[in-house]
Amino acid sequence: MDLIPRRIARVGTLHPRQEIRVPNSSEARVAVGDDGTEWVHKELMGVNQVLAEAVSFLLANRLDLPVPTGGVSRDSSGSPSWLSHLIHAPSHWQPSLFESIEDGPESMGTMYALDALVANEDRHDGNVLLEHRGEGTLRPWYIDFANAHVGSPAGLMGCRDLVPDPRPSHFRPAPLGEAVVRAATAAAHRVQAFSAECLAADAHEACDAAACPDLESELLRVLLYRCSELGSILPQYLRALEACR
Ligand SMILES: Nc1ncnc2c1ncn2[C@@H]1O[C@H](COP(=O)(O)OP(=O)(O)O)[C@@H](O)[C@H]1O
Ligand SMILES: [Mg+2]
Repeated sequence: MDLIPRRIARVGTLHPRQEIRVPNSSEARVAVGDDGTEWVHKELMGVNQVLAEAVSFLLANRLDLPVPTGGVSRDSSGSPSWLSHLIHAPSHWQPSLFESIEDGPESMGTMYALDALVANEDRHDGNVLLEHRGEGTLRPWYIDFANAHVGSPAGLMGCRDLVPDPRPSHFRPAPLGEAVVRAATAAAHRVQAFSAECLAADAHEACDAAACPDLESELLRVLLYRCSELGSILPQYLRALEACR
């Protein structure tokens, strides 16, 4: 496994464009960088939320989960906010579209494993984007890890075996068929094989991006624990999902 994680983009000047017209809590709007890259800029975020996005993005990349390229920008006081590469005109998740989604069972299973790892309870329909490709196929993009408990590493360490509770979210899960469960389990095995060096590199990069170097050692501690215990946390999460279908 490579020891150098993919980096989070550091973006300087941003030129604001249109607001995102769906209910959202982060005042997300489209913004364009000096190089013409189009981002969704989530302006209203605290450090813990940016940290949750940053570390989840790095772990998603290690698991080959499709997440939009991530970035951070800083306001004049140095406070960071999260950027997500703009996906054009996506649909939000609907179970009836499951059959049309490219690699649906694989990526959905991997998503469940990552959500269990970072303790993300915010997996509602608006946080899975479906990009329309040719011939009726849809490419999934998994977004919005801002509220994952991993963003408050000391808090999560205090309840370190936390299993995300899917009941408050409005997510209507994909069929939790054999293929999804198999993919989730395979992803959990990969997580358990992440080396301490890789996790240390991710903790460092995420804390650097989120401008909170003081949280790095606690973040690494909770990552090491959750990765090693995912084999027990994930099945509990899958059972909780099954129970609320
Ligand atoms: N990369 C992206 N491309 C296109 N739309 C996005 C992207 N990221 C977010 N959005 C849109 O913005 C909304 C709010 O973003 P999200 O990350 O979910 O933040 P919030 O915490 O405010 O819910 C999403 O539901 C989605 O409609
Ligand atoms: Mg959201």
